[in-house]
Amino acid sequence: MTKRIRKAVFPVAGLGTRFLPATKAIPKEMLTIVDRPVVQHVIDEARAAGIEHFVFITGRNKAVIEDHFDLAYELDDTLRKRNKVKELEALLADLPPAGATSFTRQQAPLGLGHAVWCARDIIGDDEPFALLLPDMLHHTHGKGCLAEMIDAYNKHGGNHIAVAPVPDDQTHQYGIVGVENREAKVSKVTKMVEKPAKGTAPSNLHITGRYILQPTIFNLLANQEPGAGGEIQLTDSMIALSRLEPFHAVRFDGDIYDTGSKIGFLTANIAYALDRSDLGPQIRQEIERLLDR
Ligand code: G1P
Repeated sequence: MTKRIRKAVFPVAGLGTRFLPATKAIPKEMLTIVDRPVVQHVIDEARAAGIEHFVFITGRNKAVIEDHFDLAYELDDTLRKRNKVKELEALLADLPPAGATSFTRQQAPLGLGHAVWCARDIIGDDEPFALLLPDMLHHTHGKGCLAEMIDAYNKHGGNHIAVAPVPDDQTHQYGIVGVENREAKVSKVTKMVEKPAKGTAPSNLHITGRYILQPTIFNLLANQEPGAGGEIQLTDSMIALSRLEPFHAVRFDGDIYDTGSKIGFLTANIAYALDRSDLGPQIRQEIERLLDR
């Protein structure tokens, strides 16, 4: 019997320097993809996968993320008085239940590994958890990425990461993995390396930003030396973990948008808008008009 994945961690402490000046006063996670903040899309993916508790690793200037996942009493009251029932219901449906969120601060930008380690007390040492990097939107018309990973976890147990191919000239920007069977949907991980130097990547499969990890990771992170970029890297502790416990890669076949990059952010807005029944036909027309100019 595998233990159920109840909790998910969302590291949202990053400064968003790639998106200045937009992110000077607004957290990058609050920029919108159509009319929902980036972080809300990722919470949606986690909720669809059955996650019950949402752990945010925040930092200074990120308080609006906390407000976003709280009741907005005055707004709710105004909507009620104006009889905007649909809008109010939609807001309330997005709200996690009382007590289902936790927020802790990463006090210094020491790396993703350090951010995850900050969740150790909230997760505890006896249950596995999910980790979702909010920058990376996983877009699919099928089952969500995390839901697919939980299926794989229920079958195999252990630890899981989502992977997908990237062009060879981009492998140095990501964590890269080698797998036993490239064709399989779920395969054993044979190698992992964080941001390999150009020409040294073991494959073109990158770690896409979705993880299911056993709590063993916290002890490894506690002693993790800084790695690529001088930061405490989660991937380095996952390499140590893969020597102790089963470690699988789950191939994600949908589209991935890195909303921390300008192109990823703009493309995600178009892709998500095209999918919407209230906006799709019109945005398609507008795109065609712009391309014809
Ligand atoms: C992090 C991880 C990396 C992963 C990437 C996905 O890197 O360390 O393994 O491939 O997220 O976005 P970062 O983007 O924080 O440099």
